Amino acid sequence: MVRRLFIAGNWKMNTSSSRAVELAEQVAGALAYVDNIDLAVFPPFVYLSQVAEVLKGTALAVGAQDCFYEDNGAFTGEISTAMLKDVGCSYVIIGHSERRHVIGEADELINRKVLKAVGDGLKPILCVGELLEQRQADETDEVVSRQVKIGLEGLGKADVLNVTIAYEPVWAIGTGETATPEQAQQAHAMIRQLLGELYGGSVAQSVRIQYGGSVKPDNAAELLACPDIDGALVGGASLKVTDFAGIVAGGR
Ligand code: 13P
Repeated sequence: MVRRLFIAGNWKMNTSSSRAVELAEQVAGALAYVDNIDLAVFPPFVYLSQVAEVLKGTALAVGAQDCFYEDNGAFTGEISTAMLKDVGCSYVIIGHSERRHVIGEADELINRKVLKAVGDGLKPILCVGELLEQRQADETDEVVSRQVKIGLEGLGKADVLNVTIAYEPVWAIGTGETATPEQAQQAHAMIRQLLGELYGGSVAQSVRIQYGGSVKPDNAAELLACPDIDGALVGGASLKVTDFAGIVAGGR
């Protein structure tokens, strides 16, 4: 089964209005030649409209870094899936490690957001990954399995096909320390096996699993060459056009 690669840039809490527009223009220009890889960028909420406008008609999709599970009402500070679609988003990142470990989001909340996003036609990227101490205690499989199982609970087979899983070991995010291709492949294979147990082999073979955590132009090719790594969720390097383009080139 050949899964199309999916390379996404998570800008996190970076850029400004003018920089977001400039970066989107530069990325679209640099990647205009790409036709065999799915591409998306995830700017901060407040710049989504502007970036979506710049990327209209290009090969780059736009997504948000989070969403809420209610439609509207008294939820100060939250953003609904309808609002995200209204400003041109097709994807949404849910359960990023910074939301889990800095903001304190739990698996059950993440699951409600995943169900809402899929139900409303947004394609979620569900992020999972272990802390350094969990890896050292040999708990990686247990932690990641729990995050995947609870994150996807209540989704049927057809719905799961709209989800991308991002395996992002927390110790590799923003640290410059990348998982080795072997470590990443092992975790991805474990996730795919779990998807097979939950949804059957053919669904498991179709769901894309991205790797995230210090992906750079010089390590992208060997990570993306692994059989169960179907793309990358790029943080820091997505803020530099040459780096992001270099990572995409590693996937060709
Ligand atoms: P870095 O690429 O900066 O390590 O970030 C990875 C990440 O968290 C993407 O969501």
